[in-house]
Amino acid sequence: MNTLKLVVVSAGLSQPSSTRLLADRLAEATRQSLGDAGRPVDVRVVELRDLATDVANNMVTGFPSAALREALEAITEADGVIAVTPIFTASYSGLFKSFFDVIDNTALTGKPVLIAATGGTARHSLALEHAVRPLFGYLRAIVVPTAVYAASEDWGTAGDDRTDGLASRITRAAEELAGLMGGRAATTEPAETVVPFEQQLAALRSA
Ligand SMILES: Cc1cc2nc3c(=O)[nH]c(=O)nc-3n(C[C@H](O)[C@H](O)[C@H](O)COP(=O)(O)O)c2cc1C
Repeated sequence: MNTLKLVVVSAGLSQPSSTRLLADRLAEATRQSLGDAGRPVDVRVVELRDLATDVANNMVTGFPSAALREALEAITEADGVIAVTPIFTASYSGLFKSFFDVIDNTALTGKPVLIAATGGTARHSLALEHAVRPLFGYLRAIVVPTAVYAASEDWGTAGDDRTDGLASRITRAAEELAGLMGGRAATTEPAETVVPFEQQLAALRSA
């Protein structure tokens, strides 16, 4: 069985970054879920912080740098994508949006995508539903039902360990993504030969 490709896009700006931390936890949970199903996965992380000037230059020149082209190609070839943004001014960050503005608008068509975000306040969690999900809907990606939002209060044991806490939301979203990635790969593998029903019937009659 061929190794699946998972690309993780993190738009965090701080170092260390809570956005990257969330992205890593989602990637690990997805790897584990696929591993449990006997599907090995190759994980590649794209840190948009390192590509910020390349993205801006692409917007004004129309051409990607070698590093940006490589990141865009990795996404185009991926079996699944995890896209995580910090919430800035009640929406995705400008860098996150600009990156998905320069990607070919067919690159994500039919591709399973898990969306997630970090924010200072839990009150902005619906930015995932009113901003991030429509962005990927426009790009015709298949966005998993569970979007994961981590506010400052979700980190640490109190928020993380509850049954509806961050850890369980990460597991649920990762299992949804792993299911779609496994299913998508299965459909690209050679199909079993199906003998038409009339032929099966004819074989029975002549037996
Ligand atoms: C310019 C700016 C605007 C922000 N606006 C919001 C906001 O509207 N809502 C919110 O919940 N957090 C907001 N935040 C907080 C960040 O979303 C939060 O700190 C995020 O987790 C930072 O991610 P990072 O650690 O990966 O850089 C803002 C932060 C900055 C720098």
